[in-house]
Amino acid sequence: MAKKTKNSGNKMWGGRFASAPDAIMQKINASIDFDWHLYRQDIAASKAHAEMLAKQGIIGADDARKIIHGLDTILSEIGSGKFKFKRELEDIHMNVESRLAELIGPAAGRLHTARSRNDQVATDFRLWVRDRIDDIYALLGDYQQALAEKALKYADIVMPGFTHLQTAQPVTFGHHLLAYVEMAARDRGRFADAQSRLNDSPLGAAALAGTSFPIDREMTADALDFDGPMRNSLDAVSDRDFVMESLAAASIASVHLSRFAEEIVIWTSPLVGLVKLSDKFTTGSSIMPQKRNPDAAELVRAKVGRIMGAMNAMMIVMKGLPLAYQKDMQEDKEGTIEAFNALALSIDAMTGMVGDMEPDVEKMRAAAGMGYSTATDLADWLVRTLKMPFREAHHVTGRIVAKASDKGIELHKLPLADMQAVEPKITKAVFDVLSVDRSVQSRVSFGGTAPKNVKAAAQKWLKRIEKERG
Ligand code: ARG
Repeated sequence: MAKKTKNSGNKMWGGRFASAPDAIMQKINASIDFDWHLYRQDIAASKAHAEMLAKQGIIGADDARKIIHGLDTILSEIGSGKFKFKRELEDIHMNVESRLAELIGPAAGRLHTARSRNDQVATDFRLWVRDRIDDIYALLGDYQQALAEKALKYADIVMPGFTHLQTAQPVTFGHHLLAYVEMAARDRGRFADAQSRLNDSPLGAAALAGTSFPIDREMTADALDFDGPMRNSLDAVSDRDFVMESLAAASIASVHLSRFAEEIVIWTSPLVGLVKLSDKFTTGSSIMPQKRNPDAAELVRAKVGRIMGAMNAMMIVMKGLPLAYQKDMQEDKEGTIEAFNALALSIDAMTGMVGDMEPDVEKMRAAAGMGYSTATDLADWLVRTLKMPFREAHHVTGRIVAKASDKGIELHKLPLADMQAVEPKITKAVFDVLSVDRSVQSRVSFGGTAPKNVKAAAQKWLKRIEKERG
């Protein structure tokens, strides 16, 4: 009998097994290659569990002390790279428990009373995602700060605003940058929301049905800074909606970053040249000596693939899974860990590029005036001054633009006589609104691009970020 146990290969669950698993079985089954990332959370949850078991009289105080001491030792062994992870022990939970047995002997076997790897892994991963959301939240704050600082510096620098990537109306560079601050704020909101929803403890749900031991789930939830225990043991071990939700937040954030990354790629192209990146955030070509490539921006643009891929993978894994725990769910970790890494790196790279980028002020101003970008200002002038209905003003302006276009000159260079040929009541006062500076200065409506709006908004953001840092 003793021999049979030994041959079974797994000292955690090998009791009824006569032989060790096939090498392929072991390979597909093991998660330690990626779930070792959860070691801090796993140890914290085990310590909370052991303390609770002792307080409830389920295990002896002496055993609990040994367990906790042993777990602390393992934490520092893993932290210092001394720990030897073993694939035959499958996952982080059994690697830790098995090492605990080596360190403290039979008392280690009492730790798994009234719990299962099912509630254990659900707990660990919630804690892990919660921690990573903290990191992302802070990184997004740094990104917002870099953007708001640049926006304040360039609050009155005029650039072309686009729709359909066609010159539309002049805007300020600061205004453009602040648009991304707003997006990042909503991204942070989504992460904070996901974090608050995931913050209930599965620990004590055990395998799926709860336990007959007199455990105190409030106590472990408290010790791990959860808001409380999850109410239904089946739900506790079987949902991964917190992973899907966090990856959805990550996907949307990465979409926002990729849009800005794409703009950086466009702006830094010699064809456009609105913005320059320094040597620090560009790379050269191995064959074309003149090249300065915006690789970091291109890679941020591309990282969305992994992040959304992880979200899709998770949705597909969960779809149609019956309650409760299914091994399919082990697939939640690899992609999620990778997605969070990719997002963190993307945010860092964007923060770096924002700090590094400098606008070509002259080029921006010239580009802002191209394409009759102040035509709307002319139409608005006709409405305001001549009390023309907007539709008619739109039509009149269109004819004036056609004249300027025929002559190949900008709107503010078109002689008054040409305008009066279209609409005799136009006076020279119209020229006040036709320059790009006047155009942006006039956009004082709430949320508009006027430099004074932009300055105030940037300052407000900087104050808010500073206050948050405390
Ligand atoms: N490594 C597993 C996972 O990540 C832990 C839970 C295993 N539970 C089980 N009953 N086999 O999902």
